Amino acid sequence: MANKERTPFENPVVEWVDSRLPVFTLMQKEYGVFPTPKNFNYFWNFGAIAMFMLITMIVTGIVLAMHYTANTELAFDSVERIMREVNGGWLIRYIHMNGASFFFIAVYIHIFRGMYYGSYKAPREILWMLGVLIFLLMMGTAFIGYVLPWGQMSLWGATVITNLFSAIPFVGDGIRTLLWGGFSVDNPTLTRFFALHYLLPFVIFAVVFLHVWALHVTGSNNPLGIDTKGPQDTLPFHPYYTIKDTFGLLVFVLIYALFIFFMPNALGHPDNYIPANPMVTPAHIVPEWYFLPFYAMLRAITFDIGIPFTDIVFINAKLGGVIVMFGSILLWFVLPWLDTHPIRSARFRPLFKIFLLILVADFIFLGYVGMQTADAKLFGVVPLIYLGQAATAYYLAYFLVILPWLSKNEKGRELPASINEAVLAKNK
Ligand code: HEM
Repeated sequence: MANKERTPFENPVVEWVDSRLPVFTLMQKEYGVFPTPKNFNYFWNFGAIAMFMLITMIVTGIVLAMHYTANTELAFDSVERIMREVNGGWLIRYIHMNGASFFFIAVYIHIFRGMYYGSYKAPREILWMLGVLIFLLMMGTAFIGYVLPWGQMSLWGATVITNLFSAIPFVGDGIRTLLWGGFSVDNPTLTRFFALHYLLPFVIFAVVFLHVWALHVTGSNNPLGIDTKGPQDTLPFHPYYTIKDTFGLLVFVLIYALFIFFMPNALGHPDNYIPANPMVTPAHIVPEWYFLPFYAMLRAITFDIGIPFTDIVFINAKLGGVIVMFGSILLWFVLPWLDTHPIRSARFRPLFKIFLLILVADFIFLGYVGMQTADAKLFGVVPLIYLGQAATAYYLAYFLVILPWLSKNEKGRELPASINEAVLAKNK
């Protein structure tokens, strides 16, 4: 009976379990009554959507793994067999294949939301950094997953990207051999990639757990970027945000389903339906769309860095490209210390908002550049490589020059006194 006082649950089974292992109390605290800012907009749906996508990918991935064969002689055919002969196999595969793209769409929007509303600033730095780690793990997982069907793009994409590691001084060749498990992308590469592709999503899941834990310590940021000051600024998570998240998720899933059922191959490359052939290099090797901006940054470094007019080179073009490509994401880790402006939300920082929106356009343009061949020209005139270099320069300048400069010099607009006041003023 003493337990009855301890837990608020009426249902005797729930009460019995909870007084021994308080999982229901935990859920109630973290997802029931959890005080959540009352002014969320739909950008705040994408964390939940990303979570849905992660679970979808794990569930469909496990079913695919039951029918897939990680052997270079059989992999391509085993995927075709999934498509044609396994009951519902085509659906599971298309959910997984398009799921990768939709997972990245959700996470890119989620990251942009964080940047726009300054969610990376104190006290949410660790939450943000765990997010960046998740993003890196997602990229690794998606890259090795694309190798598994063992089509032409699988083989040649893997060859291009794993070769990049050889640019790293001293240890590069060793790392590449370790990734390959031999001296080219071959059967040992496929088997280790399959093992890692099965493992990494669970690692991501564990990091997401920490990510959400950190979120529940600090509480959420909100579109105004000001702290909550009491119960008048918040709502219980349930039912307000469970309903809002469900609605947003349904709209998202509707669009996702449109791709799965009506254009399942629109986001992929047709060459991956040609079995891998080490003797034939495709005319144009392109990564999946979500890697393209980073691929463009890799290719933007076409020059060695050293002492001009001598043969002395410190960083050759290949290593330079690798540093810029990985550095462009690693910079996000230190974003909270590059942007130290006291105001979080772009709503109250007009200059920051302009530069950030230019960054978004710049990033999309880099994606376009990454899609084209290295010698392509814009409107047949301007070599894209120069535009790609300019876009890469802006990307780096945004983080390394513009943000630190704005932190010191942007005045910003006056902040509302509280979330509650701003919400009431808007509704008037
Ligand atoms: C598997 C991928 C991810 C999952 C499942 C996930 C999940 C979540 C969830 C459920 C929330 C709370 C709801 C929301 O604010 O939208 C959240 C918040 C947040 N996430 Fe993620 N996340 C992921 C990736 C990332 C990445 C890649 C970043 C940044 C690089 C990031 C940064 C943040 C930040 C800063 C917040 C706090 C937002 C705020 O309070 O304004 N997350 N995440």
